[in-house]
Amino acid sequence: MYRKWIVKLTAHARFSTLCLHAGQEPDPSTGAIITPIYQTSTYVQEALGKHKGYEYARTQNPTRAALERNLAAIEGGKAGFAFASGMAAIGAVATMLKAGDHVIVSDNTYGGTFRFFDKVLSRCQLSFSYVDTSQLEAVERAFTPATRMLFVETPTNPVMQITDLRAAADLAHRHDARLVVDNTFASPCLQRPIEFGADLVVHSTTKYLNGHSDSVGGVAIAVRDEDIEWLGFVQNAEGAILGPFDAWLVLRGTKTLPIRMARHNENGLALARFLEPHPKVSHVYYPGLPSHPQHELAARQMRGFGGMLSFDLGSLEGARRLLNGVRLLALAESLGGVESLISHPATMTHASVPADRRSALGITDGLVRISAGIEDIEDLKEDLSQALAHV
Ligand SMILES: Cc1ncc(COP(=O)(O)O)c(C=O)c1O
Repeated sequence: MYRKWIVKLTAHARFSTLCLHAGQEPDPSTGAIITPIYQTSTYVQEALGKHKGYEYARTQNPTRAALERNLAAIEGGKAGFAFASGMAAIGAVATMLKAGDHVIVSDNTYGGTFRFFDKVLSRCQLSFSYVDTSQLEAVERAFTPATRMLFVETPTNPVMQITDLRAAADLAHRHDARLVVDNTFASPCLQRPIEFGADLVVHSTTKYLNGHSDSVGGVAIAVRDEDIEWLGFVQNAEGAILGPFDAWLVLRGTKTLPIRMARHNENGLALARFLEPHPKVSHVYYPGLPSHPQHELAARQMRGFGGMLSFDLGSLEGARRLLNGVRLLALAESLGGVESLISHPATMTHASVPADRRSALGITDGLVRISAGIEDIEDLKEDLSQALAHV
């Protein structure tokens, strides 16, 4: 009966169309156009050994499955696995490693990822080298015979370094390692690492994919059959699954991802251009500015420069005055929502990174990060102008 809707996507359906429709069919029992929230823990079986493919909700849930198909399609992967948080997704990918394995990680990676690798996984006979992955020779030098994974974030948080994804994939594969890309900052709207050869993509869906600051979640997307089999097994075995309501929220979020990202891009670029010549600002980190050392690489591998930018006010006191002076921008951790957020990486997102590492990475006490939302740009500029006057 709903056949015509089920086959509505052609093999060459474009990104916006995939965002809206991929993975979702009208509900078979009612025709509801929106995938229902299957808020159930178990499924009644018709007879012993006879069921509809659903036995227990940790293992299978139709709302989660629709989201996983949707996210796999928009990242260009084969299968997706949704988890309770971005960290849970990274944790699941890490179970692909075995004692003795070595991982190369972007030195500027999210503080929580660093904490997980450094404080938890290093107890399991796994070793990690933190390398500036924007410097390919440094990456090449870091490989050892035990390296099984190259874990890259690009752009990095918060100083927006860019790694050449195609070169990183080639390097990883030459050393018989997987390239894993945390694509949270760019979203698949701006960058699809699998197109460049990445083996696995992870996201904190908490950010742009959900986009409305009302859900915490994560996803891992894979292309290789053995990875898909393992991640499906681990998702059920560990059980850190995304709940059905959160899956539904993210599914609603991806429907508007392209139009949200277009505005995030516009506002991010406009704020970077506004801040760069400001006399109180010593440096702006934004890959869309020609002054960014990897502007050309970013332009090549991204379809827009995103809504994340950082800038340096030279001192903790300067940062404090700005952060306490803003009215419209909200002082908060996280990113990727429709409302603009402002934060202080050294004491907030990167507080778990030791001070000497922070300063080596350029995360100074004067550094401020903005997640540009989709408000009217003039209101954002006015708010920053009045707050900068206090610095
Ligand atoms: C780039 C990046 N990766 C992973 C995470 C972890 O995601 P979650 O907070 O959903 O566990 C974050 C969180 O801020 C992040 O920014």
